[in-house]
Amino acid sequence: MRAALLALLPLALAFPQRRSTIREWIAPGPSDSRGPCPGLNTLANHGYLPHDGRNINVDTIRAAVTEALNWDPRLATFIATQAINVNLGVESTDLAGLGAHNITEHDASLTRLDAAEGDPLRLNLDLLEALLADADGDSLTIQSLGRSRARVHARSGGNPLPGTMNSQANFEATALLATVPHDPEWAPEDYLELRAPKDLVRVWFTEERFPVELGWRTPRHVLTLEDLGRLPAAVEAAKPTL
Ligand code: HEM
Repeated sequence: MRAALLALLPLALAFPQRRSTIREWIAPGPSDSRGPCPGLNTLANHGYLPHDGRNINVDTIRAAVTEALNWDPRLATFIATQAINVNLGVESTDLAGLGAHNITEHDASLTRLDAAEGDPLRLNLDLLEALLADADGDSLTIQSLGRSRARVHARSGGNPLPGTMNSQANFEATALLATVPHDPEWAPEDYLELRAPKDLVRVWFTEERFPVELGWRTPRHVLTLEDLGRLPAAVEAAKPTL
C-alpha cells in the first residue's frame, strides 16, 4: 500500500491540488460601498475584500487578488499603492472612493458612462453590449479589446486621457481577459491567444460574480509585473485608427 502511494507521488506533484471552491457570493446590500472597478467589486461580493467595501487598502487588496485570482503580490502591491496611496493620497478608501474623477476613475471606460454623462461607477448595459459586439466570435480577444478601446475613446470625444490613464485603461482591458480567460490553465507564452468567453464576461460584469457554474476557476498562471508590461501593450497595438 505504502509503495503504491509512493508511486503516485510524482503524479500528485505534477498536478498540484488546485482550489476548487470559491468563497460564497453575497449580493451587496444598500449600505455596502461599490465602485467603478468590476474586479474589486466582485472580490468584495465574494468576501475576499470586506463585504461592506470599506477599509480597502494595499494589504487587503494584495491578500484578495493573490488568493482569488493568483496575482503576484508584487503586481497587486504596485497597482494598489499607485491608486490608493499615490493617486488618492490616503492609506485606505472605500470602493466608491476609487471613483475620484481623473484621479483614479477616467472617461472612455469600457462599461461605464463618462462622468459628464451619468454615473461612472455603475455598469451601463448598452456599453456592455457594445463591448461584446466588438468581438465576432463567442469570446473577447486582444484584437476586439483594441477595437473596443478605440471605439470608447472616439465615443468620448477622442481627447487623450490625462496622465497615465490610457495605460491604466489598457491594463483594465487585459485584467478582464486574464480574470475570465477561456481556459483557467492558460500558459503565459500564449498570451496573444487569451480569450474571454462572452457568457462568462456577461455574468462577471452584470452580477459582479465569478461564474463558477460556467467553469470559472482561479487561473493557474500567476499574473506578474511582466504581464503588466506586455498585455496592455498588445491591446494598444491592436487599436485601429478611427
Ligand atoms: C489591484 C487593485 C485595483 C485597483 C486599485 C483598481 C481600480 C480600478 C479603477 C479605479 C477603475 C475605474 C477606471 C474607469 O473605468 O474609470 C477600474 C476599472 C477596471 N478594473 Fe480595476 N482595479 C484593481 C484591480 C482589478 C482587478 C483585480 C480586476 C480584475 C479582476 C480589475 C478589472 C477592471 C476592469 C475590467 C476595469 C474596467 C471597467 C470599464 O472600463 O468598464 N481591476 N479598476
